[in-house]
Amino acid sequence: MLSGTPQAVRLDSVTKIYGSADRRGRDVRALDTVSVAIPPGTFTAVMGPSGSGKSTFLHCAAGLDSLTSGACWIGGIALSGMNETQLTKLRRKHVGFVFQAYNLVPSLTVRDNIVLPLRLSGERVDRRWLEEVLARVGLTGKADTRPSQLSGG
Ligand SMILES: Nc1ncnc2c1ncn2[C@@H]1O[C@H](COP(=O)(O)OP(=O)(O)O)[C@@H](O)[C@H]1O
Ligand SMILES: [Mg+2]
Repeated sequence: MLSGTPQAVRLDSVTKIYGSADRRGRDVRALDTVSVAIPPGTFTAVMGPSGSGKSTFLHCAAGLDSLTSGACWIGGIALSGMNETQLTKLRRKHVGFVFQAYNLVPSLTVRDNIVLPLRLSGERVDRRWLEEVLARVGLTGKADTRPSQLSGG
């Protein structure tokens, strides 16, 4: 970065082509030289019709999928050249996902799902902060149930 706080996420000329030998022989150019800078502390919505590349964009911007060309940074850290282990650690520490299908661990309680990334990285759980986070999202009374026991879950 030239100066100051790095962008939360930055994409520079990102192209993602899904190769095809096994899919009717056609390449799909899901992202075509996409450049975007997302400042820290902001909200961004990605909108577009089905098949327009939203999921591909999110997967590339989060270090879940590789780029065909271009470059991507998370918090000023370049993803290019990182191996799977390095990407896993970066995601665990710096990226939060809320998937459409949630992808929670059904055998763990709500509380244990929340602290799972900390446990995996061997970090201490700040109990007070955990209670605060649970309270803020209205889960205090449900922290010790399993996700499937939540209404609508
Ligand atoms: N794993 C994949 N292999 C091949 N083509 C894919 C793959 N994932 C997505 N695509 C294609 O890339 C394009 C963008 O898909 P996607 O990013 O899922 O769009 P959206 O999330 O906006 O619906 C679509 O044409 C889709 O068929
Ligand atoms: Mg999608």
